[in-house]
Amino acid sequence: MLVISIVQQKGGVGKTTLAVNLAGELRSRSKRTVVVDADPQASAMAWAAPRRLGFEVKPELVTSGTSAQWVRNVLKQQADFVIIDTPAGLGPVFRAAVDAADLIVVPCGPSSLDLNAARQTLAATATLLRQDDRSLARVIVVPTRVDKTTPEGQQIADELAALGEPVSPVLSHDVYFVRAFAQGATVGSAAPASPAASEVRALTDFMLERLPRSA
Ligand SMILES: Nc1ncnc2c1ncn2[C@@H]1O[C@H](COP(=O)(O)OP(=O)(O)OP(=O)(O)O)[C@@H](O)[C@H]1O
Ligand SMILES: [Mg+2]
Repeated sequence: MLVISIVQQKGGVGKTTLAVNLAGELRSRSKRTVVVDADPQASAMAWAAPRRLGFEVKPELVTSGTSAQWVRNVLKQQADFVIIDTPAGLGPVFRAAVDAADLIVVPCGPSSLDLNAARQTLAATATLLRQDDRSLARVIVVPTRVDKTTPEGQQIADELAALGEPVSPVLSHDVYFVRAFAQGATVGSAAPASPAASEVRALTDFMLERLPRSA
């Protein structure tokens, strides 16, 4: 089993959108996939509420003093992939999610605020991994909500590359992602021929190539 944690200090960068669509793509490749919703806002749970996703989304909140038990619960899942959706911030949920992860995914939108937050998220992640001697865990950055028609959108991948971790293919700012949430679906199932779905497939290929071992 492989654990992929989606983390970012900043809110609204597309963590939940990434978690659910990535899970849908892995499921469509016949991988047993579970999303763990560690966000008290429970957006991934809301996404799954119409029961159309085809994979399980489970709530598992980190409350004070329960981080070690939370990690054990995550690692107990019967799945090829566990994808953890976390709330914004670098607090206990972030630390527990990094602790459990084989792959840490940092989504980042195309603004300087997002970029600063990604920098801080990567620094905090590196510190935790160093402290725990976790040299096998991998980190990638995912440019999200990118509008390639703007200079900011065109530059974001280069700016993110300067932060020193591998940068994945981008997820564009695209109404298909918003619609998929409204439909309780993923872009791959609701609109398989859309550019959004093909971006999720490219991103999934990129991630699978960078996992420490295959599932
Ligand atoms: N690639 C995209 N294109 C267009 N809209 C997007 C995209 N990704 C996310 N959104 C929209 O942006 C908003 C925030 O996305 P999402 O909930 O995934 O972010 P988040 O990082 O999980 O937020 P939070 O920190 O509140 O948990 C949502 O309305 C979502 O539909
Ligand atoms: Mg979210």
